[in-house]
Amino acid sequence: MSAPLFEKVAFIGLGLIGSSLARVMMAEGLTQNIVASTRSEKTLQDAKALGLIQQGYSDPVQAVQGADLVVLALPVRATQKVLETIKPYLQEHTIITDVGSTKGNVVDAAKAVYGEALPAGFVPGHPIAGAEHTGVHAGKVDLFANHKVILTPLPTSADWAVEKLIQLWQAAKAEVICMDVAKHDEVLAHTSHLPHLMAFNLVEQLANREDNLDIFRYAAGGFRDFSRIAASDPQMWHDIFFANKKAILNAVDGFENQLATIRKLIEDEDSHALMGLLGHAQAARQHFNHMLAQKPFMENNKVTTQQFTILPGKKSFQGKFSVPGDKSVSHRSIMFGAIAEGTTHVTGFLEGEDALATLQAFRDMGVSIEGPKNGEVTIHGVGVNGLKAPASALYMGNSGTSMRLLSGMLSAQKFDSVMTGDASLSKRPMERIAKPLREMGAQIQTTGERGTPPVSITGNQALQGIHYDLPMASAQVKSGILLAGLWAAGETSVTEPEPTRDHTERMLRAFGYDVKTEGNRISLQGGGKLVGTEIQVPSDISSAAFFMVGAAITEGSDVTLEAVGINPTRTGVIEILKQMGANITVENERIAGGEPIADIRIQGTRTLKGIHMPEDQVPLAIDEFPALFIAAACAEGRTVLTGAAELRVKESDRIQVMADGLKTMGIDCTPTDDGIIIEGKGHSGEWGAIFTGGEIESHHDHRIAMSFSMAGLRTSGEIKIIGTETVATSFPTFTQLSNQAGLAIQVTE
Ligand code: S3P
Repeated sequence: MSAPLFEKVAFIGLGLIGSSLARVMMAEGLTQNIVASTRSEKTLQDAKALGLIQQGYSDPVQAVQGADLVVLALPVRATQKVLETIKPYLQEHTIITDVGSTKGNVVDAAKAVYGEALPAGFVPGHPIAGAEHTGVHAGKVDLFANHKVILTPLPTSADWAVEKLIQLWQAAKAEVICMDVAKHDEVLAHTSHLPHLMAFNLVEQLANREDNLDIFRYAAGGFRDFSRIAASDPQMWHDIFFANKKAILNAVDGFENQLATIRKLIEDEDSHALMGLLGHAQAARQHFNHMLAQKPFMENNKVTTQQFTILPGKKSFQGKFSVPGDKSVSHRSIMFGAIAEGTTHVTGFLEGEDALATLQAFRDMGVSIEGPKNGEVTIHGVGVNGLKAPASALYMGNSGTSMRLLSGMLSAQKFDSVMTGDASLSKRPMERIAKPLREMGAQIQTTGERGTPPVSITGNQALQGIHYDLPMASAQVKSGILLAGLWAAGETSVTEPEPTRDHTERMLRAFGYDVKTEGNRISLQGGGKLVGTEIQVPSDISSAAFFMVGAAITEGSDVTLEAVGINPTRTGVIEILKQMGANITVENERIAGGEPIADIRIQGTRTLKGIHMPEDQVPLAIDEFPALFIAAACAEGRTVLTGAAELRVKESDRIQVMADGLKTMGIDCTPTDDGIIIEGKGHSGEWGAIFTGGEIESHHDHRIAMSFSMAGLRTSGEIKIIGTETVATSFPTFTQLSNQAGLAIQVTE
C-alpha cells in the first residue's frame, strides 16, 4: 500500500463542503487522521458518530497541531481571525487551503496576518459544487465528482503544495483548473454570483406581490428552474456579495443594460430584433454546451442527445426563405479579419457552432471581436504578427475547416499551440494538411491514433514556400497551405486535381493580398499584409440544398431561397438536380461582397430521374451528396455516384452512414469504395411515400441529420433521427425554417 497523501488533516469548519471532502479522504484512504474544529459541539459529535473525524476540538489551535493539511471550510469572513489564531502553530510544510467562493478577500485576509510573505503552503481553492442542504449530514462523497475545482496559486505558493492539492481534488473526481485570483473573482461574479443574485431577487419580487400564494402555487417549470438556487444559504450569499463587491457590481451593471435592451424591444414590438436576441442567446447556450461540456459528443456515453421526429402524412413544402450565412466564407472572414490591419466588418455571418469555434479561437489568441449579433461581426485586426499565444488548447468542436486552415496559420506563429475537437473531428484525417506543412518546415504533430487530432504545433517563424501537388481535391488543404504561405519565405503554390471552392483566394484578394490563379495552379508570395475590409457573407448553398431537395421531391412544392451564394465552385447541386430533371430556376443574379448570389426557385412539378452523377461536379457539390442521395431515392431508376471517395472522411463516413440509413428506410442501395448505387423508388407522375420510416443514427454529422429530415416529406412511417445537435454547427435555424415550409419536425432533447 502506498503512503497516504497526508499524515494529518485538520478541517476548520465542517459543513457541506468540508464534510464531503472528509468523506472523500476516508473513502480514498488519503489520510489516516482527520480532525476538525468547529464552534458547534453538536457538529463535532455528529462528525465523530458518522466516522468522519478521529478528534474534534472547539479550539482550532489544537486541531492544526502537527497537521500537514489545513482546510479552512468556514465562512470566508472568519478567515483572518482563524489564520491569526493558528499561525504560530503551523509547520513550514503545512498546506493551507480554503473552499470559499471568493478568493481576493481570502488573500487579503492572509496578507493582513502574514504581510506579503505568505506561507509557501498557502494555496486558496474553490470547489464549484453545492447542494440545497447544508451541514455535516448533507455531505456526500461524490459531491465534487465531475465538478470543477479552481485553485488560485499565488506567486508565493510552492509547486509541491499545488501538486498535492491537485492530487487531492482529483481523488474527489473533480476537474482541477488553476487561474489567478482576480480572474477567478471576475469569472465567478458572472457565472455564479450574478445568477444567484438574480434568483434571490426574482423570488423576492414575486414574494412581495399580494397574490404571491397563487403565484407560487401555480408557478410552473420556468420559475422552479430559475429560482432553485435562491434556496441556498442567505448568510453565505450576503457574505459573498460583499466580499466580491466590485466584480459583482460590474456584472449587475451589465445585466441592467441588457435588461433595458430587451425591455425596449418588447415595448417597441421590434419582432425582428427580439427574435435576433433570443436566437442569439439560444445559439450561444447550445454553443457553450458543446464547447465546454463536450459531453453530448462523447463516445459510449449515455448523455442524452437531441433527436428529430417526423410523422408520416402528406406534406406541402412552400415559401420564401433566407438560409443562414455560408460556413466556408464565415470561417475565412474571421481568420483573415483577425490577421488584417484595421477593422473588418462582416454581415450575414453564420452564427453556427463551427464558425463560432473559429471566432472563439481567435478571441483566445487575443483578437478583439464584437458580435456576432444578427449576423454582424466586427473584428479588430491585429496584423499578421499580432496573434498571441492562447492560454490553453483551442477547441474546434465539429469543424474540420477550422482545424485544417488554422494548422497552416498556427504553424507560422511565434508561439506553440494545440487544437482539439469533438468525437467526429477527432476521427478525421489531419496528416493531409500536416504533411505539406512539414515540407514547409512546420513542426506539427497529429497526436491522435491514426494521424487524427489533437494537433500539436511548435511555432516556427522561418517557414519556406513550396509547391505542392494536392493528391486530393480539398479546399481545406489548399487553403491551409496557402495560409501558411502568407508567412513563408518566397512563393507558395498548389495545384489541385480538380477545382475546389475558391473562397480563400477570393477573400485574400478582397483583403488586398495578391493571389494568382493560373488554371488549377494557385500561388502567392509570403510576407505581405492584409487590410481590413467589409465582408458580406452570402447564404450558404450547402444549407439551401436541403430545401432544394425537399422541394424537388414534394408534389406541388414551391420554394424560393433568397440571396444564395452561387460561386461557380459551389453550384454542383444545382447542376446535378437539373440533370435529374428538377424544376429549378436561378433568378435575380447579382454580385454581393465579391461573391455571386441569386434567388433559387424550385418547384415540385415532375418526378426526378436517376442519373450517373457527373464526376466533374463532385468537388463542386461535395457537401450536398447526403441530400442528393435522398433525391436519388425518390427518383425513377438507378443513380450511380463514382469518384467521391472524399465523402468517406467528412464529418462521418457519408457513404456508409447514408447507405445504412437508406436501407433502414427501405431503399435498395450499394455503397462502393468511391460512391454509391441507389435504386430509386419513384415513378413518373406519382408522389406517394418512398421511405418506410425508421430510426436513423446521424453519427454527429449535421448533414446526415438534415438530409434524412427531408425524407420526412415522403415517408409512410415515423422517422426518428438520433444525435441531431450537430445541426447547430452549420444551420441553427434548420428546424424553424423547415417547419415554416411545412415539414413538421419535432425536436426532443
Ligand atoms: C470546406 C471544404 C470542403 C467542405 C467543407 C468546407 C472549406 O472540405 O467539405 O465543408 O471551407 O474549405 P474538403 O476540403 O475536405 O473537401
